[in-house]
Amino acid sequence: MTDNARMKTSDFDFDRYDHVRPIRWTGDVLELLDQRKLPFAVDYARCATCDAVAAAIHSLTVRGAPAIGIAAAWGVVLAARSLHAANGLAALPLLEPALQRLNAARPTAVNLAWALARMRGVLAHAGADWCEALEQEAHAIEREDLAANRHMGALGAALIAAGSGVLTHCNTGSLATAGFGTALGVIRAGVAQGAIAQVFAGETRPWNQGARLTVWELQQDGIDATLIADSAAAHLMKTGQVQWVIVGADRICANGDAANKIGTYQLAIAARHHGVKFMVVAPSSTVDMATASGELIEIEERDPAELLAFRGKRVVAEGVRAWNPVFDVTPHDLIDAIVTEKGVVERPDAQRMRALFG
Ligand code: MRU
Repeated sequence: MTDNARMKTSDFDFDRYDHVRPIRWTGDVLELLDQRKLPFAVDYARCATCDAVAAAIHSLTVRGAPAIGIAAAWGVVLAARSLHAANGLAALPLLEPALQRLNAARPTAVNLAWALARMRGVLAHAGADWCEALEQEAHAIEREDLAANRHMGALGAALIAAGSGVLTHCNTGSLATAGFGTALGVIRAGVAQGAIAQVFAGETRPWNQGARLTVWELQQDGIDATLIADSAAAHLMKTGQVQWVIVGADRICANGDAANKIGTYQLAIAARHHGVKFMVVAPSSTVDMATASGELIEIEERDPAELLAFRGKRVVAEGVRAWNPVFDVTPHDLIDAIVTEKGVVERPDAQRMRALFG
């Protein structure tokens, strides 16, 4: 298909390529699609309290930067309801410890703090109906994320020449957001428009977000994808099968440095070496203009057991030590484009980031 013959995004049936939803608010409890059990069980965990939501974020029951921000917003609603029932307006100051527990659930993705700041903003102007106002805000955060993803899908896909192959890392899809996804949203839009002819997904050791989640999610939507071992990425690029690496982000700094799932940085280095373009796709809720550059980002380190065992069974000799940082930072000069719902920053640096984000 030529670029001219591409389907316009306004003609694109978004729902046709977007079936999975990780977060459901029932009106009383938060239901989270348990991502620890995928792809073998589609099971929603019920969270009836704020602390259950914080635990779900920490345990990766819900994961992906935008999704943990949305879940945290609903966690605030649950905390507010339980406090409000007992205390009315006097509950307002009692809410802060709950927000802090949610914020502590994971350190790297700024979307968590961003969503909690929005909820705090509602409290700052709260009247007697503050509980209801928080619920409306959580709905708005979720709704806006879906709209941003669909818009980014169109902006990102427009950068890709017809017939391209792409490689993605981790899971940045509907499972990681309110729906549609960030990098995976661009891939959805690119496939629908005929810009993307082949999709490769890295397995994303050690938690296997690519192997367990991304290829499953694409399968649900009828999008053909090929799984590769993480260690096959440079060879894939060398064989000329991909023209773009497309990834998400957990935090994008004021100079364009981007933190994302461990392994992203080495993909960016390999991409530059092989003349493959590198795209980071994230909503503006992932942009942290208060952090000047990537070395200031706290990188989460998780239990080495994630590395030493597979599905609960130890696969490494007893007594072996492991180090398990789960994010890394890609320096801005290895990034060709940052795609947000506010626009695209090509060859990002501090000046270009400031021009879009102030
Ligand atoms: O540890 P995870 O699975 O929460 O890490 C997720 C990622 O690194 C994603 O790439 C990022 O959050 C963007 S999701 C749209």
